[in-house]
Amino acid sequence: MPPRKQTDSSKQSICSSIGALIRSRLRATTCKYVGFFVLLFISSYLYLSPLIITSVPQEPISTDYLNADVSKRDAVRAAFQHAWSSYEQDAMGADEYHPISHRGFNFSGDGGIGYTVVDALDTMLIMGLHDEHARARQWILDKHSFEREGNFNTFETTIRVLGGLLSAYHLAGDTLYLERAVDLADRLLPAFDTPTGLPLPMVNLAKRVGVRDQWSSDQISTAEAATLQLEFKYLAQLTRKNIYWSKVENVMSVIYKSLLPHSLVPIFMSASKGDFTQSDIRLGSRGDSYYEYLIKQYLQTNRTEPIYKKMYADSMKGLHDNLVQKTSRQGLTYIAELIPHRSKDGSVTWDRSAKQDHLVCFLAGSLMLGATTSGAAKHFISIPPRLEELTQEGQRDWQTGVNLLETCMDTHRTSTGLSPEIVMFRANEEKGESERDWFIKNSRKGGPSSYDARYMLRPETVESLFIAWRLTGDLKYRQHAWNIFSAIENHCRLEEGGYATVLDVDTVPVSRDDKQETFFLSETLKYLYMTFSDSSIIPLDKYVFNTEGHPLPIFKPTDTKPAFAL
Ligand SMILES: *[C@@H]1O[C@H](CO)[C@@H](O)[C@H](O)[C@H]1NC(C)=O
Ligand SMILES: *[C@@H]1O[C@H](CO)[C@@H](O)[C@H](O)[C@H]1NC(C)=O
Repeated sequence: MPPRKQTDSSKQSICSSIGALIRSRLRATTCKYVGFFVLLFISSYLYLSPLIITSVPQEPISTDYLNADVSKRDAVRAAFQHAWSSYEQDAMGADEYHPISHRGFNFSGDGGIGYTVVDALDTMLIMGLHDEHARARQWILDKHSFEREGNFNTFETTIRVLGGLLSAYHLAGDTLYLERAVDLADRLLPAFDTPTGLPLPMVNLAKRVGVRDQWSSDQISTAEAATLQLEFKYLAQLTRKNIYWSKVENVMSVIYKSLLPHSLVPIFMSASKGDFTQSDIRLGSRGDSYYEYLIKQYLQTNRTEPIYKKMYADSMKGLHDNLVQKTSRQGLTYIAELIPHRSKDGSVTWDRSAKQDHLVCFLAGSLMLGATTSGAAKHFISIPPRLEELTQEGQRDWQTGVNLLETCMDTHRTSTGLSPEIVMFRANEEKGESERDWFIKNSRKGGPSSYDARYMLRPETVESLFIAWRLTGDLKYRQHAWNIFSAIENHCRLEEGGYATVLDVDTVPVSRDDKQETFFLSETLKYLYMTFSDSSIIPLDKYVFNTEGHPLPIFKPTDTKPAFAL
């Protein structure tokens, strides 16, 4: 199946499909004049009787068309060029970029594997930056190699590099990218050679062997093991090689068998036993994308695998029963964490912590996306969704998603307009003189900044704003996204080139850390760009985004049989 370029086929409005209806009626008549009078009759009837318009069957989600905001979209594109061009000049080919010292950095002493270049390819294609893309492709052709003697993180390499190559292959139709994706995937497969099939956290790409955690040799991060599936499954679909499918599907079946009654997952597992080890439960780091990939695995194969609908639904019930909280003053919805404690008699009790990572903000959009698909009463629903189109669970998830997004916006009420890495919500009894229902731990205005106070160019809030915008067409989401973009321009942008992490979102003028994360190019700027683009750019009913913002097409699995079913 040759990949096709983005088309505007979904660009259609309710009006034009009424036009299509009329045209198809016309085709049925043999006489043009009769056709003309039919057209005249129908259009005057439509004009005089607006009721008939509302009785036209509800349009599928893909045909509701949202217009671009051209000047804002182009401002985001210019920001990408500002970030990319200084990287290209100072550090082309290096895995990471340190924009203040104008240096590149590789994850192995044996040379990099093109983290930044590959992560940025599809954003260039989506933004129509053809010259930049041509030079990046040339670098991959001439200089790029996976024959590197070094330990690369299985999860990061999959989501950034494999995901980036697959998305670029789909968008550009360039087999160079598919060849590299196959080469990489084959080097990653040995990670799954454990007694349970849960993947080891690292791989030596040149030696083709999995590498155990340095500190705890049996330990596997749950989200890392369960956030490889979209990439390997799409590769299986492209190559018709079942091994890519079965390795990652097996991981899901191991997790499924170990699930606790509430279907929430502790963040660590045992590679040898396949069960959970006593560890935190959270939607932030090491937990987050497990839940994201449940709903997205259901969507990727066009809702043909009910097991993922069930696993997702069960986990969202567990989330609402155990983790969804509200602050008492402003009523801000947040997602708490559960911390296990073993008491003297050996039993485990769980304490609830009011800590929320910026990472959790992905969940707002994910809940809204889930509500309109897995939680919908039919395949295509309105923009914005109508209550009766959602199941009870769908309505619950939609509301929590909307509320959580409000909270994430509230965490931007800082001196810079940027949100901190981690916030703590105030308990009922804590008054606090602050205007905010949350605070940054170990941080005082003007004092030394804590790790929690930084903004490292993360995408999660703008990702959720993008999804919320596409699903509602509500301009407030575009306005929020623009405010965040403006804060990034004001505080993260370096005049001489690039963007850098801000150390304390509550101190102006800001101090910065010498790092431009690769996800700034693959996610933050891409989601912002798409928020201001028209909705024919990567429509949500045709794509799922991997957790690094790389769009992969939705497909019906052909000869790759799901290894795991209800
Ligand atoms: C990083 O690796 C790339 C090869 O992928 C090489 O071109 C570059 O010089 C290396 N950069 C540094 C800073 O070592
Ligand atoms: C997914 O399923 C829907 C409803 O059955 C169908 O209209 C759509 O074309 C399918 N999409 C793909 C990519 O198979």
